[in-house]
Amino acid sequence: MTYNEPMFKDNELSGKVIIITGGGSGLGKAMTRYFMQLGAKVVITSRNTNKLQTTADELIAETTGELMFVACDVRNYDQVENVLAKTLEKYGRIDGLVNNAAGNFISPTERLSANAFDTIIDIVLKGSKNFTLACGKHWIKEKQEKSTILNIVTTYAWTGSAYVVPSATAKAGVLALTRSLAVEWAKYGIRLNAIAPGPFPTKGAWDRLLPGDLKEKFDIKKKVPLKRVGEHQELANLAAYLMSDFSAYINGEVITIDGGEWLQGAGEFNMLEGIPQEMWDMLEMMIRSRK
Ligand code: HXC
Ligand code: NAP
Repeated sequence: MTYNEPMFKDNELSGKVIIITGGGSGLGKAMTRYFMQLGAKVVITSRNTNKLQTTADELIAETTGELMFVACDVRNYDQVENVLAKTLEKYGRIDGLVNNAAGNFISPTERLSANAFDTIIDIVLKGSKNFTLACGKHWIKEKQEKSTILNIVTTYAWTGSAYVVPSATAKAGVLALTRSLAVEWAKYGIRLNAIAPGPFPTKGAWDRLLPGDLKEKFDIKKKVPLKRVGEHQELANLAAYLMSDFSAYINGEVITIDGGEWLQGAGEFNMLEGIPQEMWDMLEMMIRSRK
């Protein structure tokens, strides 16, 4: 068994109906594939119908699971309600929601127009709010016994990050939404958790965050204590657990999956990693002599 293999029994999500925003590409697609393999009926949504159709064709051929797609801009509440209506029409229920859709690009903040800043806030924070509110209202009205929401954030939701300030601002909001509603809606059987991924190469993220030769200039693996990037199946394994009944007592949590990346950047003396082994004898001697 290795970390990049599927982790669960085939029926772990059997019968569950799960909406995944941004499910047509990248990490959303990886979660969609695995949830289907585990028996879920998955509804994917994004703005690009052709992309959704291609992904649907591919995953239906590849797995025995069920999949439906509905085009939707997460910023538009009416379109979000339409996704719920279409899901209920086809499958009769909704058990889970993964708020995965996002927009992001690197830029010095002072170069951003007001609209550019708003665009990221609207996709990430307003979009997650829209789906969360629509699903929450539905579950509460129907008195559904249990349901779960998983929000995909980032580690800079709590550290902040230069050059992706709208994204950091919005993801921090999504994390606050997660923790707040985990308490408020627990009485309705609704659990909310978040995953904070470190670097998981996807075309969507890498084209916008490491364009051109930045990929070579900044070897992202060097920022990670484990010296590698994440594999999509690893994230899908964690997401499947958090969407399943096995995680029934986990609520309001954010789970980091980043090989230790953000802590490497944070620890005051982590730079001492660069000191060669042979220097430690000398350093110890110098410190001991300071009595
Ligand atoms: C400055 C920019 C810009 C750029 C767009 N804008 N790109 N400003 N630098 N590189 C400005 C535009 O000029 C416009 O402002 C405003 O932003 C909206 O742009 P549109 O193109 O009209 O918006 P839209 O079509 O809605 O597209 C949204 C998008 C696009 C975010 C700009 O990139 C997109 O569709 N992204 C979706 C996928 C994505 O981003 N995936 C990566 C997620 S990665 P004006 O003022 O001119 O009107 C991620 C990882 C986090 O979140 C952590 C990694 C470790
Ligand atoms: P991605 O493939 O670009 O995924 C983003 C998805 O969001 C796309 O499918 C996109 O589809 C959809 N989307 C964007 N704007 C939308 C809108 N207005 N309405 C509906 N859908 C919209 O990138 P990814 O790397 O897989 O990112 C997935 C999630 O992981 C994001 O939340 C991201 O912040 C998070 N994350 C990724 C990394 C990483 O290293 N990859 C690290 C930390 C966190 P359309 O363009 O078709 O609408």
